[in-house]
Amino acid sequence: MFRLVFKQYKSKSSSPDLTDVINVDDIDIKQNDLHQNYNVQLLSISNEHNVQMIPGIKRPTDWRAYALTHHPGIIIIRNPFTERGQRYWTARCLRDYPRTPNIVNLNERLFNDAVRSDWWKQLDQCSDSDEFQRMKAAMRWTTFGYHHNWDTKLYDEQMQSPFPEDLGSMCRLFATVLGYCDFRPEAAIVNYYPVGSTLSGHTDHSEPNKSAPLFSLSFGQTAIFLIGGTTLEEKPSAIYLQSGDVLIMSEASRLCYHAVPRIIKTQKLWNSTLTNEDINDADNGSNLLDMDLFKKVGDSNFWQPFSNYIDDSRININVRQVLNPGDVKLS
Ligand code: SIN
Repeated sequence: MFRLVFKQYKSKSSSPDLTDVINVDDIDIKQNDLHQNYNVQLLSISNEHNVQMIPGIKRPTDWRAYALTHHPGIIIIRNPFTERGQRYWTARCLRDYPRTPNIVNLNERLFNDAVRSDWWKQLDQCSDSDEFQRMKAAMRWTTFGYHHNWDTKLYDEQMQSPFPEDLGSMCRLFATVLGYCDFRPEAAIVNYYPVGSTLSGHTDHSEPNKSAPLFSLSFGQTAIFLIGGTTLEEKPSAIYLQSGDVLIMSEASRLCYHAVPRIIKTQKLWNSTLTNEDINDADNGSNLLDMDLFKKVGDSNFWQPFSNYIDDSRININVRQVLNPGDVKLS
């Protein structure tokens, strides 16, 4: 059943029927009783956590968070970022995270060391349009923290690069507000999805710790995301994940099948220069980000190449805790 639904949304020959895709934005304009039809429940976010805020993220009391009642443990926080916040994380994922010592998918037979160690710099300097397209389309993932090994599906104590402090702080903020105060961000995969690319159905079970939640952040174009059950027999639900959305796979859904059968171009280019309003408000937590980048992404000239990239692509940051509570390394 999972594969059938995946194929329907992926199909290039016809436009798929999107009427069953859950869009949490539709829910706000409907009456409470219709929420039942969507199997979506609006969550109330507690004000009680004394969390360290981070520039570019709205206050938790302004977040809209939803639970999918047919998929216990799935939570969607609908874009809790400011526009500058979204730009910041997009730029981090493109400019910084795919750099050595992080690992990227780029094959050594197809790309030289300069590209494999600093892809964005080489892309930015590339003047040949065919080569630019080839380099742009080839980037599909980067890993850091504990590196995910796609072949063995096992983590290795020796295979790690530093986990970025800004990303760690952001994930801990989301985790704390949702009640997962002990969450430790230890491994990340950033997935790059040019429009037309997909990710087939899989479960994330490589982590020794399979009960800590998984945080998944989307930037750029919209994904149709499928969430199913623990077997491929169960029919998945389809959800739109839009730019800025934070999806949490926790509890019963942590080990469920999921996939991205389609990227839909819905997001318009953001090419304006931003006002400095949220920089002035950013004193609280400014030590947690690269504030130079946070300032620069508001400038339309600096932002332009990043904006061009997400004009036809989506970026997903997927963050997991690897170790069990109390462990300091893999056994
Ligand atoms: C993943 O499951 O690794 C990525 C999911 C996504 O792109 O939303």
